[in-house]
Amino acid sequence: MYIAVMGYGVVGSGVVKVLQMNRDHISRKSRHGTIDVKYILDIKEINDENAHLVTKDFNDILNDSEVHVVVETMGGLHPAFEFVSACLKAGKSVVTSNKELVAEKGLELLTLARANQVNFVFEASVAGGIPVIRPISGSLNGNEIQEVAGIINGTTNFILTKMIDENMDYNTALKLAQENGYAEKDPTADVEGIDACRKICILSALAFGKHVYPGQVYTQGISKLELKDVEYAGDLGYVIKLLARSKKIGDQISVVVTPALVKKSSMLACVNGVNNAVLVRANAVGEILMYGPGAGMLPTASAVVGDVIDCCNHYMRPKFFGWLEDASEDFVRDYTESETSLFVRLSADSDKAKINELFGNVQFIEKEDIAFLTPVAVEKELREKLAVLGDKVKSVIHVTDF
Ligand code: HSE
Repeated sequence: MYIAVMGYGVVGSGVVKVLQMNRDHISRKSRHGTIDVKYILDIKEINDENAHLVTKDFNDILNDSEVHVVVETMGGLHPAFEFVSACLKAGKSVVTSNKELVAEKGLELLTLARANQVNFVFEASVAGGIPVIRPISGSLNGNEIQEVAGIINGTTNFILTKMIDENMDYNTALKLAQENGYAEKDPTADVEGIDACRKICILSALAFGKHVYPGQVYTQGISKLELKDVEYAGDLGYVIKLLARSKKIGDQISVVVTPALVKKSSMLACVNGVNNAVLVRANAVGEILMYGPGAGMLPTASAVVGDVIDCCNHYMRPKFFGWLEDASEDFVRDYTESETSLFVRLSADSDKAKINELFGNVQFIEKEDIAFLTPVAVEKELREKLAVLGDKVKSVIHVTDF
């Protein structure tokens, strides 16, 4: 069977590499025998051994009736959305690693795929090489999912690990992440939580059945974190991770991406470097954790190629996959109405008696600054109390029950 790959960057070239490296093995997993790349679409010059496959004209792919599956690894919304839509309308299944595309246009593209009796799949869009989409939308279908939470950005986890383990400052750790090729072209998407936000939108839609758009999710990155936060959280028995969390509360969900304290004894605390982990709490299975490499050429290509084989095996047999409903305005509730504990760091001259009066007797960490954990209460109410302390408050970070 023939496929095409649109976008020959890190992931796209990895996909071609894995298909070639494992060609024989893959042919035995595929109902239709060997899977070969017929076209690579890219605007840049390519001089490697696959140069003869390169086209700069999307219509070569669109109009070739031998190409049944198209891989989209271009990234970005445009022209990825237009190209993917055209392929689905032309009866070609599409595999993508593009989380922005799925988070913004997933429902539209799933609907288009269903209407045209083809598949639109995206295992590689969340957590790189870790199988998370299939387990959540397949193996766990017998459960009512209560919560999905994860470390789903490798770059920020790499930076935080360096800050926690080596006392490295944020900027040095970011530079190292870029040198290692983990960060997005513009690291803002990683460090400000935008990438993790797109991924939790996809996981929320799969877990809870309605599209969730990035604009509906409160998102805060790690760029304002200081080494003191990491150190004081450590003294209290926690590590700080960038967590994406989505929790069912009645008919609504609460979704956020924020730095958060997790107990040192938690499974999530052990997820270091560029690794990712997705934790699911569900009413039959209990709690599970899926762990592994969340970024990188071959791990991400592994997920894409798995999808390619699945699409070939489902040629002319569309899968029931994804979600059916669009977001409703009130589906995502105001996260500050949920209960949490907060880690608070303040200047050393803060009024401790006042703090104890506001929050009950708390236990202080006293160093250059002071820090404490609030009791669990509705976040809005906790923040109203913190406002009384004015500009003495230097940082406020969620504390989780993980
Ligand atoms: N920049 C992303 C990350 C790549 O660091 O997780 C994988 O989506």
